Amino acid sequence: MPEFEPRRLLVTGGAGFIGGNFIRHMLAAHPDVRIVNLDLLTYAGNLASLADVEATHGPRGDNRYHFLHGDIADFGRVAGALAAHGIDTVVHFAAESHVDRSILGPEPFVITNVLGTLRLLEACRQAWGDRGDVRFHHVSTDEVYGSLGPEGAFTEETAYDPSSPYSASKASSDHLVRAWHRTYGLPVTVTNCSNNYGPYQFPEKLIPLVILNCLEGKPLPVYGRGANVRDWLHVEDHCRAVDRVLRAGRVGTTYNVGGEGETPNLRIVEMICDRVDALGLTPAGVASCRGLITFVADRPGHDFRYAIDFRRIRSELGWAPAVDLAEGLGRTVEWYVAHRDWCAAVRSGEYRRYYEEQYGNRGIMSGDR
Ligand code: NAD
Ligand code: TYD
Repeated sequence: MPEFEPRRLLVTGGAGFIGGNFIRHMLAAHPDVRIVNLDLLTYAGNLASLADVEATHGPRGDNRYHFLHGDIADFGRVAGALAAHGIDTVVHFAAESHVDRSILGPEPFVITNVLGTLRLLEACRQAWGDRGDVRFHHVSTDEVYGSLGPEGAFTEETAYDPSSPYSASKASSDHLVRAWHRTYGLPVTVTNCSNNYGPYQFPEKLIPLVILNCLEGKPLPVYGRGANVRDWLHVEDHCRAVDRVLRAGRVGTTYNVGGEGETPNLRIVEMICDRVDALGLTPAGVASCRGLITFVADRPGHDFRYAIDFRRIRSELGWAPAVDLAEGLGRTVEWYVAHRDWCAAVRSGEYRRYYEEQYGNRGIMSGDR
């Protein structure tokens, strides 16, 4: 069967971590592709992450990239963009994405992840009718499957069992996307991937938070005993996977995407510490960054372990992760060291106020919950 060729893409959430990396990947890998980036620019969305993309590919460059400020839940805005740009492919990253925030305030998660996805699906259904030469790709998470014990891995057939408001809202959105395929024939594909890491990740998630706290000599908050296990996927591997599924994935099908990077949290934190030390950047007052590790109160409903069985995407589409965790993590530490200006820019706004209101500047310490 000939592969689908995405030409005019609407990427939602492209000012965020994965969406921005995906825009870079697509523009570099496929010279025929044009991209509209629809993003609300919440605390997690920063145009600073795409300044060079705008310069090279924006209206003053080769005009293959266009930023559109807006909410996925704004039906008129989305419908207008689909029509004005002749969109044939939607790649849906926009979401509220941080589990800890979802525990503190779940409502935005339902509004954006559930209602926003519904409105986006409806706008596509209305714009595309029964066309088959279009795609709606939904980006989701392995967290919809719930928590594993020490053994086993999630397959695409694992029953949904989400624990947090975040994962429950993503699970809802996955169900809506599949329902729009079964009920209305919308040509959808879905990916559920493990924890991403790499450049441009907002410094509230474990890896960038720990890197910056090391550089700034602040406590490194490890929830519980640090024994919880995550599978780490380099964002470039993830972008290649989404690209592959768009082109060759079977319509109506879900593909799990994993990084072969299962690691307990404490080990990840230690690896970061050792890398910062090796770069000669150990902060004053400690012999090594490991001295900053601080065990704090556990996250409520904290899933113990995630692991992904990605045999489907490997056997059907020939995708496998290429970035080794130790090497990818080392590069990520170096990226944050080299981009302190970006870190300052993205932390200067609403995020900082929200975070400091919640936690002061102590990190999430025992007794806060
Ligand atoms: P992120 O928080 O870095 O970025 C989210 C982006 O969406 C931001 O640019 C934000 O401004 C935008 N946004 C939020 N609400 C919006 C709205 N209503 N309308 C338009 N734009 C809006 O997120 P991320 O880490 O890049 O994650 C992207 C997607 O991948 C999400 O759907 C997330 O659930 C999924 N995912 C992430 C991971 C991970 O490890 N980061 C793992 C699995 C799945
Ligand atoms: P996180 O990056 O928030 O991703 P997710 O919750 O989606 O997996 O957290 C990754 C793991 O690290 C998770 O088990 C919670 C833990 N964690 C800490 O121990 N300390 C922290 O400061 C953060 C943010 C997370």
